[in-house]
Amino acid sequence: LRALSVTSEVYPLVKTGGLADVAGALPKALADHGVETVTLVPGYPRVMAALEAAEPVHFFADLFGGPARLLRASAAGLDLLIVDAPHLYDRPGGPYLDPNGQDFADNPIRFAALGAAAAAVGLGYAGSWQPDLVHGHDWQSGPAIAYLAYAEGPRPATVATVHNLAFQGQFALSLVGVLGLPPRALSVEGVEYFGSVGYLKAALRLADRVTTVSPSYAREIRTPEGGMGLDGVLRARGAAFSGILNGIDTGIWNPQADPLVPHPFGPDSLAERQGNKAALQRSLGLDEHRDALLFGVVSRLTWQKGLDLLVDRLDALMMTGAQLVVLGDGDAAIAEGLRGIAAQHPNRVALATGYDEGLAHLIQAGADALLVPSRFEPCGLTQLCALRYGALPVVSRVGGLNDTVIDANPVALAAGVATGFQFGPVSALGLEAVLHRVVELWRDRPAWRRMQENAMRTDVSWDRAAAAYAALYRQAVAERAVGE
Ligand code: ADP
Ligand code: GLC
Repeated sequence: LRALSVTSEVYPLVKTGGLADVAGALPKALADHGVETVTLVPGYPRVMAALEAAEPVHFFADLFGGPARLLRASAAGLDLLIVDAPHLYDRPGGPYLDPNGQDFADNPIRFAALGAAAAAVGLGYAGSWQPDLVHGHDWQSGPAIAYLAYAEGPRPATVATVHNLAFQGQFALSLVGVLGLPPRALSVEGVEYFGSVGYLKAALRLADRVTTVSPSYAREIRTPEGGMGLDGVLRARGAAFSGILNGIDTGIWNPQADPLVPHPFGPDSLAERQGNKAALQRSLGLDEHRDALLFGVVSRLTWQKGLDLLVDRLDALMMTGAQLVVLGDGDAAIAEGLRGIAAQHPNRVALATGYDEGLAHLIQAGADALLVPSRFEPCGLTQLCALRYGALPVVSRVGGLNDTVIDANPVALAAGVATGFQFGPVSALGLEAVLHRVVELWRDRPAWRRMQENAMRTDVSWDRAAAAYAALYRQAVAERAVGE
């Protein structure tokens, strides 16, 4: 089976969050299940710079305001198709934001162009490679799903995956004329969304199958409380909408052979981990205490991630003698709050801002526990990395966090199966209560070590999820063949 993955980011070429990790890892995992994946991405400068052996396979005389090419290329082990459209993608900034942190005004057009290119490939008139199925990720792939849904004649099957319902790609109704979709597309059955054009809504309504990245998040977003306006659309999809839990790339995240980790270790050599804790403390100027419980955070600093709750409860945490390192980027107010506390406790709290892959790995390898107090979390990948690296995850009981961490409640401890800590409701008090439980358990080092071993032996690989996606792809393709 041939699949075209349509994505706005892919690790290691361009990444703002977990979507890139998923788009980068899933194709490799799917290959073991008989799925050949080609990944379609915009030709941002950093993508263009990374290409090996790029070959043009199609030309567009005018792709939304300028000429463009489709390149077949490889880079970092990925099989790629690139939309090389300099008028849309060759500019400074990130994939979505300009250098001042503002959304590019023409984002609706930039991702409509990605969609038009996806449809051209999917319908077989852009080069010789044609997929059986097109898999679109998040709102940026809404136009791809819509163009295919309204195409005349046979088309490939489509799957849309929601990585985060908070980002919906909602634009002015006048965009419809520019998109070149047929007039009937502008209905509640199509791209219309509360009087505007909804890219994510279109994908959720029009794809043959819809998935999200954990079973718990799939349940939550079917409800008015969690659905962010789209719960009705999702409920209407019935069994065509499901949750498949993400994995992580266990080749990149391998504590026994990670070039970014100074002291390799495994579940049978946990003592080696101490060297990483010391290296982490040293590199950020914290006291090099082996017995201080060291919490880590690796996160975007946003309301979603609940780190304002941590700022709120940090004084209480400091009373316990614990240490904290935060690697995060985003909201200035949250960073300010953390910076203030770090200034008061320079030997026990450190904040590192910016994107730092090396430090992210060192935190996972050296911190005793990893905090993820999210208000909502479609899947979450950092708690999976934490499990694999023996940093016990301390998570709110939502979304994928609920599905991946076994709470150290008395029964789980007695049965010897606990892998971390969960708390709810997601509030400052809920967080404080769980922090006290963690501090309490830290005193019982044998129990702590037992949990670390359990955590490290948890299967966080892509294998199970890849099998589930492959089965879903096959069903969707078979139904399309029957429907035609
Ligand atoms: P989200 O996609 O919502 O941000 P995930 O947990 O799914 O959350 O994925 C976040 C990914 O980004 C993980 O791979 C994590 O290690 C990485 N990450 C987050 N912040 C940073 C940072 N400041 N530096 C390096 N990596 C980061
Ligand atoms: C989103 C979500 C995160 C998820 C990631 C990959 O960024 O916020 O929870 O892990 O996508 O699916």
